Amino acid sequence: MLAEKIRHPTPCFMIAQVRLVRRKGHFVGTVDARHFVGNRETTSQEDYKLHLPREIYSRTAMERFSLLDKDYFAKKATEDKFPLEGNVKLAKAIVKNISKAPGRELVVLDIGAAGGALTTLCLLKELFGAGMVKVKSMLLDISMDALKATKGWDFVLPMDLLRKKYGWTDAFVNFAKGIISNAEIIQVDILSLDRQLEKADICISGFTHHHLNIYDKQAAVKAMESLTKSNCIVGVVDESLSPKDYLRWAAAHEHETNSRGQTVPIALESFIRLERHIGFLESSIVLAKGKEREYYYFVARKQ
Ligand SMILES: C[S@@+](CC[C@H](N)C(=O)[O-])C[C@H]1O[C@@H](n2cnc3c(N)ncnc32)[C@H](O)[C@@H]1O
Repeated sequence: MLAEKIRHPTPCFMIAQVRLVRRKGHFVGTVDARHFVGNRETTSQEDYKLHLPREIYSRTAMERFSLLDKDYFAKKATEDKFPLEGNVKLAKAIVKNISKAPGRELVVLDIGAAGGALTTLCLLKELFGAGMVKVKSMLLDISMDALKATKGWDFVLPMDLLRKKYGWTDAFVNFAKGIISNAEIIQVDILSLDRQLEKADICISGFTHHHLNIYDKQAAVKAMESLTKSNCIVGVVDESLSPKDYLRWAAAHEHETNSRGQTVPIALESFIRLERHIGFLESSIVLAKGKEREYYYFVARKQ
């Protein structure tokens, strides 16, 4: 059994054991070389309880992304790189698969927008390019600071890179600013949504489900389906690092600061495989999917 596991080491989920300690009111993660690799079939309920407490995921995410309110977009575009690349891939796959009815308003709901709404902006870029410019944006996040910075367009945008590598123009930025400044912002934990929201034509979630435990990833996919109109689109892009890559990432981010010089703690993360994530869809058919070393994405049509 053990040999079998070693020969097939692909984990269904992985949590690097970052030691989370409270310092000056914040959780600070100290990277520990041990990691917990498990799969759903062989992990006991006790292990789940020990390693997957929902409140630590939500509290550490809230702390990290509130401190990254103005810096998230630029950091992801210039330091980690793959979140921008993954969001562009997701956006292209969505626009390829939507029915193009000119003049129709598209309601775009972004779950886990973070400061700068990277996922929404990448989608807006593709919609703009395809002439689909009637868009209502809804931005949902557990962090109000992130939502406020985004709606106020008060965040760092690495324009040189975006122009050179991703073809952003002044015309697109003006269009995007107009949409984002009129966005509806919804501060809530997606796992305890307590209000009715307008249903979306496109419900997207970028690099957010890995901030949830495995049961809650399933709940988040279900919530996305229920927030999407029939015959419309659900799109997810998410991180899936190997234990080695995660530990490298966590070590590099151990002493992270934001542009105000404040310490930014890391948040608890867990990863699953694309196939398992897709398996959480209950009422949608998959239209497109893909994976790279650090992330995967899928686009589905809700029935
Ligand atoms: C890594 S950022 C992703 C930002 C952007 N979508 C992207 O693709 O890069 C994750 C965001 O999800 C938010 N988040 C984490 N857990 C959440 C939850 N349970 N409910 C709502 N938002 C959550 C965090 O506050 C953060 O802003």
